[in-house]
Amino acid sequence: MGNESSSNVVDEKTHPSVLEKRTIEAVAKYVLEKDVRRIVVMVGAGISTSAGIPDFRSPDTGIYSNLAYLDLPDPEAVFDISFFRENPKPFYTLAREIAPGRYRPTIAHSFIKLLYDKGRLLKHFSQNIDCLERLAGVPGEMIVEAHGSFATQRCIDCKADYPGDQMKAAIAAGEVPHCQQCNGLVKPDIVFFGEALPSDFFDSRDLPEQADLCIVMGTSLTVQPFASLPQFCRDGVPRVLINMERVGGLGSRPDDVLVLGDCDTGVRRLARALGWEEELEALWEATNLPEECGAQTAEATPLRTREEKLQEEVERLTEEVDRTLGISQEYEKRVRQQLGGPVAGTADRADRTNPANNSESSHAGETSTDRLAHVFPHLARTTREGRPEKA
Ligand code: APR
Repeated sequence: MGNESSSNVVDEKTHPSVLEKRTIEAVAKYVLEKDVRRIVVMVGAGISTSAGIPDFRSPDTGIYSNLAYLDLPDPEAVFDISFFRENPKPFYTLAREIAPGRYRPTIAHSFIKLLYDKGRLLKHFSQNIDCLERLAGVPGEMIVEAHGSFATQRCIDCKADYPGDQMKAAIAAGEVPHCQQCNGLVKPDIVFFGEALPSDFFDSRDLPEQADLCIVMGTSLTVQPFASLPQFCRDGVPRVLINMERVGGLGSRPDDVLVLGDCDTGVRRLARALGWEEELEALWEATNLPEECGAQTAEATPLRTREEKLQEEVERLTEEVDRTLGISQEYEKRVRQQLGGPVAGTADRADRTNPANNSESSHAGETSTDRLAHVFPHLARTTREGRPEKA
């Protein structure tokens, strides 16, 4: 294995030993001319971001930058087994946003399916838990879900299976399911920090060494032991990185090809160079979920940002305050009627004939945030000069 340190990039003058050049087109030529059929693919969350599922570590958009609302000791705690035992709620809150069922595979997922259809996929190694490779049609036996997935679930104490439909219902309701045998905590078979990877990962770890091409996509290659996989490829075997940035020592070998940028764009370039572009687009078209599944795509509303979550919380609080106020006014009216006194609001009602005093009109144009401005002054509308208006 060459020197894989991330700082070591092969010298421009160094010629590749197998490829004509370190380009996508040279990789395509190599695949077709050598009839390469043993291709391993290694992916991370970056191949699902264009489906609307955030990755973990991208600044601002990554999951780990948006968990402040879960009040965690540190972002990765949401996937830590000891933290989960103490407090499973944050995981189940996040699970509502990332669980499969609402997302369509990306064209990168369909490219993996195309490799399989063409009999060229030796094995697909995924760190993702979204099951989008399965949804794209890649057979389960071709996939190593190194960090598990939402496909199955069990009790973390007695390991009893838990019904999938009940897990789906619990996730949708943001509830924490408990084991029907021992009442222990139940979680999807996702590998949490502190848990062992599935045996399938270790049983398949010799495959990169048998591969004649390695394609790494959409991963920071920061989590071991998955991150070591590309190093197991033999010297001289071309390795292609399709990723926003260079990671994991890729680029340090003479036949490494770096395609820095968006996964979908990189995959389309490779398919075009292979002459498979139409087949790829047709495969991806076939993954279009019917509307009734509520499938999310990148065009659909992306996952909410921190500000949107805060705004949503304020809206919810407003409704609650309004409802409570409404109840107390109703109650007061009933008590006054029983005591035979004037009923609050009748005077207002008379005033209501005068729009100037009509409480609706005084609320006209107000948003629920304004109505809470007296509670959260910082939410008060500001004048053009940026000074808060009178609440
Ligand atoms: N196109 C190309 N690259 C992308 C895209 C995209 N559309 N979106 C994101 N990326 C890149 C990011 O720049 C980053 O290098 O994908 C990588 C995603 O890295 P992470 O967010 O760290 O995700 P991943 O590598 O899958 O994380 C590994 O960490 O927390 C654990 O268990 C979790 O499986 C996960 C593991």
